[in-house]
Amino acid sequence: MTDPHAQKNTRASHVTLSQLMHPEHANLLGNVHGGWIMKLVDEAGALACMRHAQKKVVTVAIDSMTFRQPIRIGDLIVLNAEVTYTGHTSMEAEVQVIAENPITGERTHTNTAYLVYVALDDEGHPTTVPALVLETEEEIKRMEQAKKRQAHRISQK
Ligand SMILES: CC(C)(COP(=O)(O)OP(=O)(O)OC[C@H]1O[C@@H](n2cnc3c(N)ncnc32)[C@H](O)[C@@H]1OP(=O)(O)O)[C@@H](O)C(=O)NCCC(=O)NCCS
Repeated sequence: MTDPHAQKNTRASHVTLSQLMHPEHANLLGNVHGGWIMKLVDEAGALACMRHAQKKVVTVAIDSMTFRQPIRIGDLIVLNAEVTYTGHTSMEAEVQVIAENPITGERTHTNTAYLVYVALDDEGHPTTVPALVLETEEEIKRMEQAKKRQAHRISQK
């Protein structure tokens, strides 16, 4: 059980994952397969939540994802993930996906995803997580938006 007064700021959970896209990541059109991007998004979100909770986490919900631009083989995918919301045992992570052409340096923001994770204790039961300390107006706004998304998810259960 986490100390009920434990608190952590957003920076403490920030994760950047980068991976070069190889031919093995391609779909039939020769661009990156969406499933690879979804796997990396889930990994980045889980890492941010593990950093926040300092516990194992499982994915409980993934919001719909829209891919606005194809990602090319040879691009570097950069995923920036942060915790945007904490409940008792659940956390929402925001994951921004950027495709970078390593030769030209051109960077394209391809999508943003929101995922929810639950922290587990050593017996595999949901366990409390530190509260998120909000330090900027932007973080307060993000938490408000995240609360609405979480209420919507729960209403759909
Ligand atoms: C995640 C899991 C442990 C939750 O167990 P549970 O008995 O539903 O626990 P609870 O009802 O207490 O919910 C735990 C938290 O998850 C949140 N939650 C549950 N379902 C949710 C959903 N669909 N969307 C968002 N949050 C959800 C609850 O609101 C609660 O948050 P809070 O403690 O911050 O208030 C359980 O559902 C599980 O093991 N799921 C499989 C996870 C997994 O294997 N993921 C990998 C993908 S296959």
